[in-house]
Amino acid sequence: MLYELIYRSHASDNVSENDLKEILDVARKFNGQNNITGCLLYNNKQFLQLLEGEFNTLMALYERIKIDPRHKEVFLLHMRETDYRIYPDWTMAFKSMNKTEMKQKAGVTEFTEIENERDDSAISKQLFETIGKELS
Ligand SMILES: Cc1cc2nc3c(=O)[nH]c(=O)nc-3n(C[C@H](O)[C@H](O)[C@H](O)COP(=O)(O)O)c2cc1C
Repeated sequence: MLYELIYRSHASDNVSENDLKEILDVARKFNGQNNITGCLLYNNKQFLQLLEGEFNTLMALYERIKIDPRHKEVFLLHMRETDYRIYPDWTMAFKSMNKTEMKQKAGVTEFTEIENERDDSAISKQLFETIGKELS
């Protein structure tokens, strides 16, 4: 069964461009071998990531990601069953975006609506859907 997981986090203070590159290199290799797809967004030291794959593989990966010292305050938005992948062709798409772009693509007027999302992840999902369509 296919699942999708969305979380957000804050990059650690000392995280560099090179760290981002390394994260993506490792992520793409592992994800490619384990049928995981998704997208990592980076905005002003904040990460928002969508992961898609089989339940056990996703959970094990998320447990590793959660304890990665390159970020902190990892907050799970949702983990739920889905019947399609938004990023079927991407072992991990990456986009560095500013607030204006993010608001526009998520369809909200205030950035805090994205930043403070807690109970429902409809806004983040919309953001990933918009970017996914642009990439395909
Ligand atoms: C923001 C962020 C996103 C990450 N995304 C992935 C990912 O999609 N796939 C992956 O294998 N590792 C990802 N990682 C890296 C993992 O946290 C971890 O370093 C990697 O799985 C190697 O684990 P290991 O050192 O225990 O072997 C990510 C790390 C960060 C900080």
